[in-house]
Amino acid sequence: MKITAAITGVGAYVPDYVLTNAELEKLVDTNDEWIMSRTGIRERRILKGVDQGSSVMGTKAVQQLLDKTGTNPDDVELLICATVTPDVLFPATANIISNGVGITKAFSYDLNAACSGFLYALATGAQFIQAGTYKKVIVVGADKMSAIVDYTDRANCILFGDGAAAVLLEPSTEGLGILDQVLRSDGSGEAYLHQKAGGSRRPPSHETIDRREHFIYQEGATVFKFAVKSMADVAAQVMERNHLSNDDVAWLVPHQANKRIIDATANRMGVGPEKVMLNIQHYGNTTNATIPLCLTDYESQLRKGDNLVLAAFGGGFTWGSIYLKWAYDGDKVAAK
Ligand code: UT7
Repeated sequence: MKITAAITGVGAYVPDYVLTNAELEKLVDTNDEWIMSRTGIRERRILKGVDQGSSVMGTKAVQQLLDKTGTNPDDVELLICATVTPDVLFPATANIISNGVGITKAFSYDLNAACSGFLYALATGAQFIQAGTYKKVIVVGADKMSAIVDYTDRANCILFGDGAAAVLLEPSTEGLGILDQVLRSDGSGEAYLHQKAGGSRRPPSHETIDRREHFIYQEGATVFKFAVKSMADVAAQVMERNHLSNDDVAWLVPHQANKRIIDATANRMGVGPEKVMLNIQHYGNTTNATIPLCLTDYESQLRKGDNLVLAAFGGGFTWGSIYLKWAYDGDKVAAK
């Protein structure tokens, strides 16, 4: 019997501090009307405090996932953390999260594919389930984007926020879970979206700090054009090769980078706004957390057998789309 990898639970955590457009107006030359009309973002969450990294949020998201699904940490065999803002370059943030929730009989590693990282990690985790190697895999997306955002750069500081969310993957013999994926990358996109220093090519120094090279560098308009085309292309490709009409799709779950990119993808798929998961207004772009945060926020509306098309685009460039069948009635979990 064919084994597929089903998402059998979700968990999330966002920090309490709310950074509003009104507060950003005090930091840079911007305004709520511009931000809302150009991006759809009203506020974001920010992780405050000394020595607080992405793992703090990832640990809370995974703990909620374990509690909601009644999973014993001893039964988890693999935890993958998708992040571009690891606590430190090593050890992996995934290890810190596993340690934080008491997962001690597994292996854990980080995966970096910028904003598409959660999709890459989901596809990777699913392979271990489909092959029959493991029965419980956790995939968590966690990013403290505020650590690499320049709050003097008005084009970028309005976009990003902090958060984490996680899913549990388990085997299904009913044909539920991840059924197809199109994942792509193109390294020539590096020029338009990157962090200039902090790695081995240009290690941290007084000069790199003075030149503000540890912050996100983005040529927004160019990235926007690539994102619109690429996300829509792969989502349409996944629909076509699985013979899914727009009526067959219950939900589009898009990476939340800009509402205009989300609308363009939905239009290309012929999917109405009522089927598009959207929470960018509350969180902004949380990079690896956007897609699992959507799944958590919309969990109570999801039904067993729903067809979901996930789609993302990010730095690198990286992009991709995953087709999955939802494995449980979300209202029953939410009611517990
Ligand atoms: O998830 C990773 C992938 N990243 C993305 O998907 C982000 C893709 N890019 C975007 O979402 C958009 O390009 C932005 C939201 C970043 C910018 O929107 P845009 O419509 O592409 O604006 P723009 O960069 O072309 O700038 C238009 C104008 C410029 O003024 P001038 O030169 O026309 O006078 C900017 O200086 O808007 C100005 N501007 C702002 N004005 C008020 C840029 N940022 C701001 C701001 N407030 N915060």
